[in-house]
Amino acid sequence: MESVQLEQQFTIPRIGDKAPEFKAVTTQGDINFPSDFKGEWVILFSHPADFTPVCTSEFMTFAHLEEKFANANCKLVGLSIDGLYSHIAWLRTIKEKISFNGMKNIEVKFPLIEDISMEVAKKYGMIQPGESKTQAVRAVFFVDPKGIVRALIYYPLSLGRNFDELYRALIAMQTSDKFNVATPADWYPGNDVIISPAGSCGVAEERMTKTDDLQCEDWFFCTKKLDKDLVLKEILKK
Ligand code: BEZ
Repeated sequence: MESVQLEQQFTIPRIGDKAPEFKAVTTQGDINFPSDFKGEWVILFSHPADFTPVCTSEFMTFAHLEEKFANANCKLVGLSIDGLYSHIAWLRTIKEKISFNGMKNIEVKFPLIEDISMEVAKKYGMIQPGESKTQAVRAVFFVDPKGIVRALIYYPLSLGRNFDELYRALIAMQTSDKFNVATPADWYPGNDVIISPAGSCGVAEERMTKTDDLQCEDWFFCTKKLDKDLVLKEILKK
């Protein structure tokens, strides 16, 4: 019994898996995940606890950027192992009292899941007992419009997330889907993108002899230009 329970705590959905389903109570009413978000990307993220400073800085930043993510067809859903009334009290305190990085009077409008039972946290491997047995680590799941886990990032309790990277990863994955390309290290819209490696000797030879619109360092490493405005036009709503 003990080992079954421990195993459950360590279950982490993998890239390419269907996002585990759950029903939850949130600060914006009940949700069914991921079915309520069909057709949209979702960033499902956990934080250790309400009324803690790093989490407060992150929530203010998420709320400040909510519209920017929504413009890229992405909703935000938060979670901690706290109850609904704690969540409500914390979000009210943030709005009424807290300033951070030039932000103040910040209203968190996206759902924050109450997960006292840890049911969702366990399904998503958000409890990592070496770090804390009672608080969720800072997990981030990118779930695509078909309900598939596309990326996950985990941070320890002490480390606030980098929101440029969360947004960059979202746009990069959407760019890969839309244009059938991959994105190299530190890619941002406007940078060259990578085309799939040659799958035959003939294509490898072609890559090294034809110039066309490709720039090939070698037969396996070819990039092409992808216009920033085109990327943003295809991905952003406005
Ligand atoms: C924080 O959000 O400030 C925090 C939460 C848990 C452990 C350490 C820091």
